[in-house]
Amino acid sequence: MLIGVPLETAPGEKRVATVPEVVEKLVKLGFTVAVQSGAGDAAHFADDTYRAVGAEVLPTAADLFARADIIFKVRAPSMDEVAQLREGSTLIGFIWPAQNPELMQQLAARKVTVLAIDSLPRQLSRAQKMDALTSMAGISGYRAVIEAANAFGRFFNGQITAAGKIPPAKVFIAGAGVAGLAAIGTAANLGAIVRANDTRAEVADQVVSLGGEFVKVDYEEEGSGGGGYAKVMSEGFQQAQRAMYAKQAREADIIITTALIPGKPAPKLITAEMVKSMKPGSVIVDMAGEQGGNCELTVPGEAVVRHGVTIIGYTDLVSRLAKQASTLYSTNLWRVTEELCKTKDGVINVNMEDDAIRGLTVIKDGNITWPPPPLKLPPAPAPKPAAAAPAAKSHGHGGGGEPMSAKSLATVFGVGALAFALVGMYAPASFLAHFTVFVLACFIGYMVVWNVTPSLHTPLMSVTNAISSIIAIGALVQVAPPLDAAGAADRPNTLILGLAVFALALTAVNMFGGFAVTRRMLAMFRK
Ligand code: NAI
Repeated sequence: MLIGVPLETAPGEKRVATVPEVVEKLVKLGFTVAVQSGAGDAAHFADDTYRAVGAEVLPTAADLFARADIIFKVRAPSMDEVAQLREGSTLIGFIWPAQNPELMQQLAARKVTVLAIDSLPRQLSRAQKMDALTSMAGISGYRAVIEAANAFGRFFNGQITAAGKIPPAKVFIAGAGVAGLAAIGTAANLGAIVRANDTRAEVADQVVSLGGEFVKVDYEEEGSGGGGYAKVMSEGFQQAQRAMYAKQAREADIIITTALIPGKPAPKLITAEMVKSMKPGSVIVDMAGEQGGNCELTVPGEAVVRHGVTIIGYTDLVSRLAKQASTLYSTNLWRVTEELCKTKDGVINVNMEDDAIRGLTVIKDGNITWPPPPLKLPPAPAPKPAAAAPAAKSHGHGGGGEPMSAKSLATVFGVGALAFALVGMYAPASFLAHFTVFVLACFIGYMVVWNVTPSLHTPLMSVTNAISSIIAIGALVQVAPPLDAAGAADRPNTLILGLAVFALALTAVNMFGGFAVTRRMLAMFRK
C-alpha cells in the first residue's frame, strides 16, 4: 500500500507527519511512501532527504491524495482535503471527534476509514509507544519554559557574583499532567525554585521526583475524574484553590498553566486580580489557550503585556520545535502502522477486536464508530482496608506486618503472664531474674525493630549485628576474668585464652563491618 504524506495546510503548522528516518521503517514494513514536495521544509526535512531513503516526492497534494491508500496527517483535514480523500482509503492523524462532529460527518460521507491519534486508549500500557498526545505534551511543556525564559528579564538559577547576589526565579506550575511535568523538570533543571499544583493528588510524588514542590489546596476533595484525567471541582474547592493561587501569584516570577479537563473549557485559575498582584516583569505562559485559557487575560495565539506582566498564549508551542515534534509524532504513527500491519507485508488490517485499534478507529469504511465501547481493563488491585494505613502510620509498623488487634494482644499478654507465674513458682530465683531480663529484652527489641521502615532494614540489621556481638563480652571475660574477693583472678588455660582471642578478632570484624555497611547504606539515603 502507498502511504501519502501531504504538506500541512493549517496556518502556522510546521510539523510533518513523517520524517525520513521513519520512511525507512515504513518501507521495512512493506509500504511505499510518497511525500508532497515541501511537506518537510518547515521542519527542516528537504525533499532530497526523503528521496534518499526511497520515498517518492509528488508535486501537489492532488497527486498525493489521488494515489495514496493511507494518508498520514498531523492536523485534522481541511474541507478541501476531505474532498480529495479517495473512497476506501485510510486517514491517520489528529481529529478530535468530540469537538468536530461536522468533520466526522463529512469524513464518513467520503466512505473512508479514520484513525484519530487523539482517541488512543492511553490507559493501555501497550498504547504508550503510540501516544502522540503524550509526546506532543512533553514538547510543549518544555517549550513553555523556554518561552517564559525568553520573556523573563532574569536568570532562572540563583547566582553569587562580584556584582551581587541573584535569587533563583520562582516558577509556579498549575496542572501537573504530561505537559506540566515536562515544564517542572525543565524549569528545575534551569535552576529555578519550582512549585506545582494539580487537582489530582496522586501526581504529588511525580512533582517531587522532578525537582518541584507540590502545593496542596487546603480542601479535601478527590480530584480524579477517571482514566488519569481531572474532573470539574466543587465550588468550595475552587474557592480554596483561588486563595492558594492568589498567594502563589504574589510570590512567583513565572506561572505556567496547563490545566485541562477533557471535553470541557479550561478552568479559569488565574484571575485578572492575580495578574495585577504579580511583580512587574513577571511572565505567564498559558498553555490552555486553545481551550479558552487558564488565565482570564490570555489572548490565544498571542503574547500580550497586562499590568506589567507578559502573558503568552501561543497555541503553536509544539510547532516551535517542529523538527523534534515531527520526529516523535511520526514515530508514534509508525508504531500504529506496526500494530495495523503485523504481517509486515505492506497491507493494513484495521482489527476492531484489538482494544488499541478499536479506540483509535473513529470511522470504519464510512461508518462512525466513535465513541468506542468502554475498555475492559483488568480490575484495579483492591484497596487496602482503610483502617490499616492510618494504624500503620500512627504506630509506625514499618516492618510490614499488620498491627495486632486489641483482642489478640490481650491473649498474648495473658498467656505470657501465666507462663511467667508458673516459672516463678517452680524455677530457682536466679533463673527468674535472668528470664525477666530476657523477656524484657525480647519485648524492647520487637518494638524497636517493628517501628523501622522497610527501606532502613539493611542498615538496621548490620548495626544490630554489630551491637549484638555478645561474643565480645564472653571473650573479654575469659581474657580478663573478674577478680575474686582477695583480688586474685582465675586465669583460664592457654587453649581457652587462645579461643577467646580468636573469638574477639572475629567479632571485631563483625562489629566494624556492621558499622561500615550501615554507613554506606545511610549514605545512599542522604542527598
Ligand atoms: P490534561 O492535558 O487533560 O490535563 C493537564 C492537567 O491539568 C492534569 O494533570 C489535570 O489533573 C490538571 N487539572 C485539571 N483541572 C485542574 C484544576 N482545576 N486545577 C489544577 N489542575 C487541574 O492531561 P494529560 O497531561 O494529557 O494527562 C493527564 C494524565 O493522564 C497524566 O498525568 C497521566 O496520569 C494520565 N496518562 C496516563 C497514561 C497511561 O496510563 N499510560 C498515558 C498518558 C497520560
